[in-house]
Amino acid sequence: MSPESLAFPEGFLWGVATSAYQIEGAWNEDGKGESVWDRFSHAPGRIMDGSTGDVACDHYHRWAADIALMKELGLKAYRFSISWPRVLPAGRGKVKQAGLDFYSRLVDGLLEAGIEPFPTLFHWDLPQDLQDEGGWESRATAEAFVEYADVVSRRLGDRVKHWITHNEPWTVMVMGYQMGMHAPGLKDVAASLRVSHHLLLSHGWAVPALRRNSPGAEVGITLVLFPLVPGPENGTVTPTFRRFDGRYNRWFLDPLYGRRYPADVVADYVEAGCLPPDGPAFVEPGDLEAISVPTDFLGVNYYTPVILRSDVPPGSDTEPMALLYHGPSREYTEIGMMIHPDGLRYLLDRLHFEYLPGKMYVTENGAAYSDGPDGKGRVRDQRRLTFLRDHMAAAHRAIECGAPLAGYFVWSLVDNFEWNFGYAQRFGIVWVDYETQQRIPKDSARWYRQVISENGFSLPD
Ligand code: FCB
Repeated sequence: MSPESLAFPEGFLWGVATSAYQIEGAWNEDGKGESVWDRFSHAPGRIMDGSTGDVACDHYHRWAADIALMKELGLKAYRFSISWPRVLPAGRGKVKQAGLDFYSRLVDGLLEAGIEPFPTLFHWDLPQDLQDEGGWESRATAEAFVEYADVVSRRLGDRVKHWITHNEPWTVMVMGYQMGMHAPGLKDVAASLRVSHHLLLSHGWAVPALRRNSPGAEVGITLVLFPLVPGPENGTVTPTFRRFDGRYNRWFLDPLYGRRYPADVVADYVEAGCLPPDGPAFVEPGDLEAISVPTDFLGVNYYTPVILRSDVPPGSDTEPMALLYHGPSREYTEIGMMIHPDGLRYLLDRLHFEYLPGKMYVTENGAAYSDGPDGKGRVRDQRRLTFLRDHMAAAHRAIECGAPLAGYFVWSLVDNFEWNFGYAQRFGIVWVDYETQQRIPKDSARWYRQVISENGFSLPD
């Protein structure tokens, strides 16, 4: 390859990611229980375009065609999530075989197509019955999660070789319990701290069950992480940077990697009155040991960095989103996320040097652009293609610096239900016509197929 060609390590896993609520539809079929996202999206005013995930991409019925599409694109791996209330409608107790059967068929279909299944157990669609009993604020939900992980891995553990316990505990904590934009729609920082602890605890408790039922499989967790990028706008690292990094990144990374909760962040929460003076009472003896159970990989979701405003009003760091710099000098995707490919390199390097995960996968990275079919039915999504190429190049540089990155998953295979944005934001490399459910691979998908087949790509001059 010529010097400007980037070759990836042999066996690098190129994939795409989706999640159950965002694509499956069939929200009340075959005995599936209600999830918090069913409840949330059905409540008026919660979703910007008034839509729901009731039908979404109808993947529950079209899964076989979707696998055929993935095969056509040459994908090596598929990250999907399992709907907890499809398997255990009440969250615990009675198992719905039809739900398990669906995922078993999906896994078989993927393996037949030569695509490695990467199931995520929890991508936010908590059974509503568990929410009614306190949801993630309650330790009992962490216990129920272990039962769920056990049920699923008993059934799929012979074939699945990569398990992800949770997707982005940060998002449940912050979007669900601080900002109220995601289910269950609360604004309660103290509650959000209990929630994040029980999410991490349930991860720690579930890992041994997954290992028992799926011998030899790799097990990990996926975090969304935010590299802090000091921009020309605000110069160097400030105490606000430290706090932001603590709340958003170290709050999850430190306990997972055996360093306990970061003392500076705990002190901040105590000072803000969100924790009692002697710290978090919800952390019981043995919890931190459980959370830091060794894993095989860290899943990294990266979309956007954090560049903090230089003119932060005093005391406003309890509203971290208000601190984000949005300047005219930056480029954004249509959902409003700042584009910063180097942030991915910085993030992977930092994780590698600071936390030493044995292996990492970029489990999500992608861009929202609405480009649709032209007169000839072709979707020219050049901006997404450029976004993906630049981020893959950044990941490649991290690999060159030694980061143990073993795969990269584009978010997402298909346009889908983008949570509180509804269907207005399109992240797919495949266009979905929601009226007809027709799928059209966009230019980015064609380009990705070539990247996968060559295990690399050339940068433009
Ligand atoms: C991530 C979520 C995923 C999707 C992308 C755009 O935070 O994990 O479900 O919504 O953002």
